[in-house]
Amino acid sequence: MANDLGQDIPERGGRGQHGHVPVLLKEAIDFLAVQRGGTYLDATVGLGGHSSEIARCLGAPGHLIGFDKDPAALQRSRSRLQHPDSGSAVTGDRSPDGEWPTVTLIHGSFAEIGERIAPASLDGLLADLGVSSLQLDDPERGFSFQADGPLDMRMNPMSGRTAEQVVNHLDERELADVIYEFGEERRSRRIARALVRSRPIQTTKQLVDVVSAAARPMNNSERRIHPATRTFQALRIFVNRELDDLKALLEAAPRVLKPGGRLVVISFHSLEDRIVKDATRDGAKQGVYRLLTKKPVTASEEEIASNPRSRSAKMRAAERV
Ligand SMILES: C[S@@+](CC[C@H](N)C(=O)[O-])C[C@H]1O[C@@H](n2cnc3c(N)ncnc32)[C@H](O)[C@@H]1O
Repeated sequence: MANDLGQDIPERGGRGQHGHVPVLLKEAIDFLAVQRGGTYLDATVGLGGHSSEIARCLGAPGHLIGFDKDPAALQRSRSRLQHPDSGSAVTGDRSPDGEWPTVTLIHGSFAEIGERIAPASLDGLLADLGVSSLQLDDPERGFSFQADGPLDMRMNPMSGRTAEQVVNHLDERELADVIYEFGEERRSRRIARALVRSRPIQTTKQLVDVVSAAARPMNNSERRIHPATRTFQALRIFVNRELDDLKALLEAAPRVLKPGGRLVVISFHSLEDRIVKDATRDGAKQGVYRLLTKKPVTASEEEIASNPRSRSAKMRAAERV
């Protein structure tokens, strides 16, 4: 498996003044080529790190539209994005001329942009996938294997099945398939058997204990990551339909971008990166996109040192033809 330590790394870093350090911030803004007065969509507002920098570049005539599935993230980023005095993540400054764009925040999945955003209306679209530090840091959300909490893992706590429902209700074979497909975990069958035998499983700690006992590291390379990493990643992806949402976003992107509009996607594990790579390469073959990154952009040594979460980030960008 490629660099898929997504669940492991964020727990060791990535907190900033606003609780989440944006990854590849300068690179994302450069590839978006944010133009003053344009209309840009941040599909994953989170704590507003990328959004606030886009807003600063847009100035008063611009429009920033932000989506997030998580109402708590929108609540936290709202004040930052609607009050320019809160400053830019890069420079700590306000917008150069003190102006601030119109900001529209939408609680919903980016899978819906095809229905909710007018065709050919965007100059740029950014998606910074995965979970935020806000989600990982709150044990009540159930994303972290380093703190005990209820097994929830929903980015949108108002809808969908929780990880607890998935772990306790799927049959052994389905559970093993989820762990194999979305966690790329070779010991999925053994883990699924142990989980089914240990039901009911209600907390993250119970899940960690069962998985750790079933999947002991067999060599040094396995010892580098927590034995529950891949199972947590798999359940999170399944619970939040992350890959289906990403495919829907990428399908809609060419329709909502203006000619010359930019698509920038930051992903944190190989399953996501493969989907982004295939969609942009297929688009380029069909004359829909011009690829701006032949290989994914990754974080510099300095960024990795200051924000370990950036280690597994891969950014791809394309321009709508
Ligand atoms: C890595 S964080 C984004 C951090 C943000 N760029 C920042 O600098 O603060 C990812 C965010 O995307 C949200 N998210 C994940 N999948 C989503 C989807 N399908 N639709 C909308 N938001 C989603 C998560 O709730 C989370 O807040």
